[in-house]
Amino acid sequence: MSAPVFHNIVDGREAASLSGRTFENRNPANRSDLIGLFQDSGPEDARCAVAAAEAAFRSWRNVPPPRRAEILYRAARILTERKEQLARQMTREMGKVLEETRGDVQEAIDMALFMAGEGRRLYGQTTPSELPDKFCMTVRMPVGVCALITPWNFPMAIPSWKILPALVCGNTAVIKPAIDTPQSCWSLVQILHEAGLPPGVLNLVTGGGPEVGEALLGDPRVRLVSFTGSTEVGRRVSQACAPAFKHCHLEMGGKNVVMILDDANLDLAVDGCVWGGFGTTGQRCTAASRVVVQQGVYHQFLERLVERAGALRVGDGLDPATQMGPLINERQLRRVDEYVRIGQAEGARLVCGGRRLEPGGLAAGWFYAPTVFAEVDPGMRIAREEIFGPVVSVIPYRDLDQAIEIGNSVAYGLSASVYTRDINAAFRAMREMYTGIFYVNAPTIGAEVHLPFGGTKETGNGHRESGQAALDHYSEWKSIYVDYSNRLQRAQID
Ligand code: UN1
Repeated sequence: MSAPVFHNIVDGREAASLSGRTFENRNPANRSDLIGLFQDSGPEDARCAVAAAEAAFRSWRNVPPPRRAEILYRAARILTERKEQLARQMTREMGKVLEETRGDVQEAIDMALFMAGEGRRLYGQTTPSELPDKFCMTVRMPVGVCALITPWNFPMAIPSWKILPALVCGNTAVIKPAIDTPQSCWSLVQILHEAGLPPGVLNLVTGGGPEVGEALLGDPRVRLVSFTGSTEVGRRVSQACAPAFKHCHLEMGGKNVVMILDDANLDLAVDGCVWGGFGTTGQRCTAASRVVVQQGVYHQFLERLVERAGALRVGDGLDPATQMGPLINERQLRRVDEYVRIGQAEGARLVCGGRRLEPGGLAAGWFYAPTVFAEVDPGMRIAREEIFGPVVSVIPYRDLDQAIEIGNSVAYGLSASVYTRDINAAFRAMREMYTGIFYVNAPTIGAEVHLPFGGTKETGNGHRESGQAALDHYSEWKSIYVDYSNRLQRAQID
């Protein structure tokens, strides 16, 4: 049977790329499984989509937000009805285990419901004027055409973080999903149309960053960009947005830390580190890739972590017995393996994994063993650079001050966590860690949609997505003064 062909979605219609070229979407757990062919679009395809979004903006911006929200509610219902099917589809294209892809779809449902609720709020302020017979208020206005560029590790959740606040605020958009996982995003866009989204409000163009992404960034009709991906590409996105002052939201790398104190509930901490370090095969920007452990429990913790990591069943995420799926592609596999060699060369002790696995036959998929390094020095590259794979570096420390110093010593600032029973220590760590997200007695992953998501330093550029904070990116404040005094009144003067 020949593979299905998926088209771009432009102005509510399916459209082939102008070049006629396609690229393959294959299952990372089984390379012989071809999911489909997607459009290998070029700059002109991106421009057509922007034109559709620009035309649709004229009417969408004036659709009452509660009406926009009704479409989001309907989409949430359709997503809920198809959750299992969408999760299976996502595991097949992305690799993570079914339990996690169900969570990914659920996150899109949660975001749809949350943002639909915002349709009846989008609150501004009213405030007294300093002058008599004058009324002041603030309203949110949409920004315009948004370019949304999303990664492959949360193929539906992250597109939903961007699309849904953009739409509820009255913007129109063009989304370019990662080439490794276009299908989950394609399904989300189709479902929004099924739920009643007018043509042109949301457009999808698949293809490479240099072709489609660059064209979107350079298009003067695009007024807002939201990008999730590497810090290196994020810097380029930021530079491309600067000359035209486009609103630019960046969500980039992480090197998150779990801090375990001597008094911690060690069973809980081990559970958290296994989930935080190896969930999604470590391919999360919030992954717990560093674990700093106080001297008194260091050996005990390490022994238990290694035992648990070594016992994880690695394989096809569609198999219910599997606990960890493959890496996304060959490039990631090489990258992870390279970091393992770097760690060994730096003198860290490899205590678990450190090699490619081949369940299902040679080269069936991009599997890698859960890997643990012990006695890692905080200055080593494996303790400072984002690996984006199932590699955890365990670092011993003396006291809380040192743990905080190590925790904050990296270039990134996304997520951190502390395991302790000491409330004073927990609050000190909470205050001192310069990260956008912090957990107490939980791993570094597990963000919920109604709270802001994002990080400091090289993780972000000061904006947040998710929660009400997202509205600040996808709208522009307008301050309105209504003078009903019937005379000239001069602020600061009369
Ligand atoms: C990511 O880490 O790439 O916080 C996104 C979590 C998820 C989102 C993670 N809700 O675990």
